[in-house]
Order: sequence, then structure tokens, then C-alpha cells
Amino acid sequence: MRLRAGVVAVVGAGVLLTACGDDQPEAEVDLSRGEELYDRHCVACHGGATGGSIDDIPPRHNAEGHTWHHADCDLIDMVLDGLPQREGHPQMPGFEDELSEAEVEAILAYIKTWWDAEQREVQAEITAQRCNGD
Ligand code: HEC
Repeated sequence: MRLRAGVVAVVGAGVLLTACGDDQPEAEVDLSRGEELYDRHCVACHGGATGGSIDDIPPRHNAEGHTWHHADCDLIDMVLDGLPQREGHPQMPGFEDELSEAEVEAILAYIKTWWDAEQREVQAEITAQRCNGD
């Protein structure tokens, strides 16, 4: 069991490295980890792959929402730090005590499978403009 977990982790790290900076689809291992984490920490407030509308609060992360308007580095910060309480809104909690940056990246990779090709392309451009590429 131990050995197997180690091998999976190494494969996952290699995939993350090779996936950096090009358009390769995320590998299965990261997506299933992302899905598991999303289901545990996010789905209760944000809902899943389909349904909802742009006006929902908490916002939807699927193609109906606006998550794809934000760069990766901003999304990672929002998830780790949380968002300030806004009047009349429920609050987005911060996850820095529960999730590593790599885990948030896995969650984002999973969320991105819900977007259409154009949304993914636009979001990748926003990310390239706003984030340092690492
Ligand atoms: C307790 C409910 C709750 C949980 C759990 C939660 N969120 Fe949120 N989240 C919110 C609310 C509410 C907002 C909107 C806050 C606002 O508009 O003031 C939000 C906003 C966001 C935003 C910014 C808006 C957007 O879509 O771009 C992101 C990104 C986000 N959440 C990601 C996540 C992720 C990833 C998880 C799981 C790790 C998560 N949230 C878990 C309630 C939650």
C-alpha cells in the first residue's frame, strides 16, 4: 500500500511538471485527486459540473459561472486566503490550513474540465497575462 501511494505521488509530480506551460490535457491522476478534493471541500457550497446560473451565490464554477474570468494565480489565492465577508453574502472560507497549493491546482484542473474550449482558451490567456508562469 505504502509503496503504491509513493509511486502514484511521483507519477503525479512528473505529470504536473510536464504539463506546465503547454496545452497538454491534465492527466487522469491529477483530475481524480482534484475531483475527490472538490467533492470533499467545495461542492456543498458551489455545486457541481452542471446547472446553476451566473447570479448564484455562492458562485458556480462550471461553464454557467464566472470562475473562468479569473487567472490561475488569483484563483489559488482566493481559495487559500478566502474572501472578505460582503454584506448579505455568505463567506468564502480560506483553505490554507487544509489544502496545499498543489491540491488547489488539482481542484482547478478538475473544474476546468467543466468549461468549454473557448472558456479554457480565454482563461489560459488571462493566466498568461497575470501570472508569472510558475
Ligand atoms: C461555506 C461555503 C463555501 C465553501 C465550502 C467554499 N466556498 Fe468558495 N465561495 C463561497 C462564497 C459565498 C463565495 C462568494 C463570496 C462573495 O462573493 O463575497 C465563494 C467564492 C469563491 C471563488 C471566487 C468566485 C469565483 O468563482 O471565481 C472561488 C474561486 C471559490 N469560491 C473557490 C472555492 C473552492 C475551490 C472551494 C473548495 C476548496 C470553495 N470555494 C469552498 C462559499 C464557499
